[in-house]
Amino acid sequence: MYRGEKVELSAVQREYLPKYVEWLNDWQVAQFLNPGIPLPFNLEDETDWFENRRKSKENLIFAILTLDENKLIGNCGLHAVDLKNRGAVFGIFIGDKNYWGKGYGTDATRTLLRFAFEQLGLNRVELEVYAFNPRAMRAYEKAGFRRDGVRRQALYREGQFHDIYVMCILREEWDARKE
Ligand SMILES: CC(C)(COP(=O)(O)OP(=O)(O)OC[C@H]1O[C@@H](n2cnc3c(N)ncnc32)[C@H](O)[C@@H]1OP(=O)(O)O)[C@@H](O)C(=O)NCCC(=O)NCCS
Repeated sequence: MYRGEKVELSAVQREYLPKYVEWLNDWQVAQFLNPGIPLPFNLEDETDWFENRRKSKENLIFAILTLDENKLIGNCGLHAVDLKNRGAVFGIFIGDKNYWGKGYGTDATRTLLRFAFEQLGLNRVELEVYAFNPRAMRAYEKAGFRRDGVRRQALYREGQFHDIYVMCILREEWDARKE
């Protein structure tokens, strides 16, 4: 249903969960994701997440599949979807590192933004990104996000405090990019 130029956003299938567990236990991926206590992750944790998300209308999650090989490479979604204020929080990871830096993340981001603005009718999509993640920031900028502000030293990771940037794209900015 939701196709970009390189990826398709598809339903998360139960059979994908072991792959997600493998990726989320890879620190090269996980270091960028959750500001909480980094703990190893098992299939039971992931299955709980899957069951909860499936029933939730506030968290809309998609698997990222490549268009050419139909291969699972990651996951993205809108969290805290707020239909009153018409906002949501964007999240993404490409777990298969062979697919980093090849445009898949930008395409998945654009495809999910199209869903957010043109299917859900949202007005604002925001995200948080850690200061030591320039690849993600660049992908988000290419998709149209701009920096809203900084949460100074909001993350403690590997013995240091790091800034967290808040980025956002508004519906009017999305529309202007299409013209
Ligand atoms: C963040 C992520 C989704 C981006 O997807 P991607 O497919 O790797 O990104 P893209 O290839 O679409 O775009 C990356 C851009 O960053 C650039 N880039 C890569 N490394 C960079 C670096 N160290 N400094 C600056 N730019 C960098 C790339 O050159 C590319 O820009 P360009 O097209 O202008 O050359 C993906 O890398 C990922 O999942 N990483 C691990 C988890 C993660 O960080 N999730 C996001 C948490 S906020």
